Amino acid sequence: MKKGFILWFTGLSGSGKSTLSKMVEERLLERGVKVEVLDGDEVRTNLSKGLGFSKEDRDTNIRRIGYVAKLLARNGVCAITAAISPYQEIRDEVRRSVDGHAGFVEAYCECPIEKLAARDVKGLYKKAMAGEIKHFTGIDDPYEPPVDPEAIVHTGDEGPEQSCARIIKTVEMLGLVPPVPGDDYGIDEEKAVAARLRDLGYLG
Ligand SMILES: Nc1ncnc2c1ncn2[C@@H]1O[C@H](COP(=O)(O)OP(=O)(O)OP(=O)(O)O)[C@@H](O)[C@H]1O
Ligand SMILES: [Mg+2]
Repeated sequence: MKKGFILWFTGLSGSGKSTLSKMVEERLLERGVKVEVLDGDEVRTNLSKGLGFSKEDRDTNIRRIGYVAKLLARNGVCAITAAISPYQEIRDEVRRSVDGHAGFVEAYCECPIEKLAARDVKGLYKKAMAGEIKHFTGIDDPYEPPVDPEAIVHTGDEGPEQSCARIIKTVEMLGLVPPVPGDDYGIDEEKAVAARLRDLGYLG
């Protein structure tokens, strides 16, 4: 059985986690990889129904997502998670818990808050800045960017296709999905992905 892994997106609201998780899912399904997406919004209507946005409830939400993702990954599935997951400590806890059973790939959707507020996909930044929503990540609740993510995508500067391609290239180079001959991700970009993974201690 092919080794499963968790592709863990993290980033502020509107930074592209849901968009990219769907795109990556499609690309991996085309390659015959088994995939399941655990999207933050959807999880909060079932698995984590009733949880709020206090630190404790956010941590519980992320631990639950991490637990399900781990079960999937150890059965050969690529579990993609798309929740803000603002705290490094809990992301690291999930990473440690999958150690050895499967791979863990942290993908940081980086985008300056000014751009997110201008984009305001769900109209939430406007409300948060007006004080109508409390505990909104990045406005009046903390977000801790990952220290050593396997992939960083700058979703304020590049299109979804480019971000998606970098993530696919990363999981390919980590040996988690088979490479597709002739894919056209640029050689310079490919070198940048390799350099990042080498810095993190992968690739020998
Ligand atoms: N490089 C990129 N990657 C992903 N999305 C991008 C990129 N560039 C622009 N976008 C746009 O940014 C928006 C991202 O919204 P999305 O719902 O995916 O964010 P999210 O991180 O899931 O937010 P939330 O935490 O609120 O669910 C979409 O409208 C998407 O088209
Ligand atoms: Mg989303």
